Amino acid sequence: MCGITGYIGYRDAHPIIINGLKRLEYRGYDSAGLILYDGKELKMSKTKGKVSDLEKRIKKEITTTGNIGFGHTRWATHGVPNDVNSHPHFSESENLVIIHNGIIENYDTIKIELINRGYTFKSDTDTEVLINLIEEIKKTENVKLGKAVQLALNQVIGAYAIVVFDKTKPDEFVVARLGSPIAIGIGEDNKEFFIASDASPFIEYTKNCVYLEDGEMAVIKIDREIKVRKIQDDSLVDPDILQLKLNLEQIEKGGYDHFMLKEIHEQPKAIIDTFRGRMLVNEGLIRMAGVDDNMQKFLNAKRIIIVACGTSWHAGLVAEYLFEDIARIPVEVEYGSEFRYRNPIINKDDIVIAISQSGETADTLAAIKMAKEKGAFVFGVCNVVGSSIAREAHAGAYTHAGPEIGVASTKAFTTQITLLSLIALKLGLANGNVSKTDYHSYLQEMELIPKKVESLLEINDKVKYIASEYKDAKNMLYLGRGFNFPVALEGALKLKEISYIHAEGYPAAEMKHGPIALIDENMPIVVIATNKGHYEKVVSNIQEIKARKGKIIAIVTEGDTTVKGIADHVIEVPETIEAFTPLLTTIPLQLFSYHIAVMLERNVDQPRNLAKSVTVE
Ligand code: G6P
Repeated sequence: MCGITGYIGYRDAHPIIINGLKRLEYRGYDSAGLILYDGKELKMSKTKGKVSDLEKRIKKEITTTGNIGFGHTRWATHGVPNDVNSHPHFSESENLVIIHNGIIENYDTIKIELINRGYTFKSDTDTEVLINLIEEIKKTENVKLGKAVQLALNQVIGAYAIVVFDKTKPDEFVVARLGSPIAIGIGEDNKEFFIASDASPFIEYTKNCVYLEDGEMAVIKIDREIKVRKIQDDSLVDPDILQLKLNLEQIEKGGYDHFMLKEIHEQPKAIIDTFRGRMLVNEGLIRMAGVDDNMQKFLNAKRIIIVACGTSWHAGLVAEYLFEDIARIPVEVEYGSEFRYRNPIINKDDIVIAISQSGETADTLAAIKMAKEKGAFVFGVCNVVGSSIAREAHAGAYTHAGPEIGVASTKAFTTQITLLSLIALKLGLANGNVSKTDYHSYLQEMELIPKKVESLLEINDKVKYIASEYKDAKNMLYLGRGFNFPVALEGALKLKEISYIHAEGYPAAEMKHGPIALIDENMPIVVIATNKGHYEKVVSNIQEIKARKGKIIAIVTEGDTTVKGIADHVIEVPETIEAFTPLLTTIPLQLFSYHIAVMLERNVDQPRNLAKSVTVE
């Protein structure tokens, strides 16, 4: 949701924070703010808008420099996006200052109590309530900042990642997390520390990093090792210092106009990275420790429940087809948000697979916590290494797609499908539902997928032309069947996310039960009609659309002649095994949405109202 970044050390904090905010802007971008401690005073600048708006404002408002400071990009929860509601927020005395990612659910009652004690509030945020609660406790209990933060957090309900600073004791930060991530970068000899929502803001300065666990807080002081404690009982924790593998190039645009376009083009490599070292085609082997070590559990499983949100949920739907078709294991696919509140029936021999790019989505995380409590075995499919879902799961496998910065998910989707295909194949072979010969054919075909994706990227100009024809549409329909039904949903989601054109995905046969009423000469319809998977039936659907004068953009298999004769536009994808078609049919749909959004001058990488990582429910 929001992005937070901070620095305490010997360097000029200002550029570190601003660059950090730019890298975290994918997390929230309705407002931004920065605070610097110049050795005497706190200098703050904050504004509704982007980090670039903040930079303009800082030029006018902050003239001094400092070695301590922090910054925030906001995705509003409580209080509309405006200058006042932007972070940081001061306490009543203006000695304490805070940035916060998350939600304090019981802020209302705390606020009333604080108002009764004479506190006044400038903003509508829950965050300002929290900093005043900390101040009140510090004063009345006469305790240090760390203790006051701890006592305050034990009174609040909600989710948070916070950074707190006290200008009367300006050599330390207090940070804490519950439900929202915090990474701490440790400089050489503890001479400097970096704080951020993920490690990207500080990778050029240090590779040593501690990820706070849920329910932990840390007091960070220059020249001293960081002290991590449990918020609930004050017990000391020995923090795990990890070595980051991320590099700068991975999080920059690398010559592309947008992160989304870069990430679309990274898919051939990302898919290879997903199966590299796991899929040994010559040996006829798929190695995946998280599955290998728990094979008996998988083989005993009566069903697999997949929980996810957004694009990851669509990957879950593809996985339903994969697991049921290849491994013959029953699958249910659930939205994290519905599953967690539905009192679902979960048995001990159920396997819950959580799919999440960020590994931080609050609803997915809560769903797996509940499933664990009910005794299920939880397997995580995440991209971000060390993320909350990855840590909460009993076992898992990373997609290794590399950082995905564009808010609209692209390579995360195809790599999730790649990974889930490998799992389905492993299980299908182990439980005897896939013959050795078929298994080999699948592996050989999977090895060819990156090249086929690459060839699809070469038709970019053709897709761009088709996009130019439909950019002014008000609505679009996306239809697909079988493995390509989830692709239709994903195609429609991509379009609405970044172009703001209303689009709906449907199973092609369901068109007759409602959407057909919408079809006229102004309605463009994207139909996925690859040669396997109910081809003739989809062709009939295309005829039905044509009879009602709808405009058809068809995704077909190379060499198709039937649909070519009917559709207004065709985009050809290479031939592949039916189960792997989503890895190909998705690509032109990503490009199609991208080009329409660019032509409509939308903010492709940071579409309005959306956030990359939804850490609140
Ligand atoms: C947000 C993002 C989507 C993403 C979804 C789930 O809505 O904008 O792109 O698919 O969250 O995120 P996750 O990190 O769990 O895959």
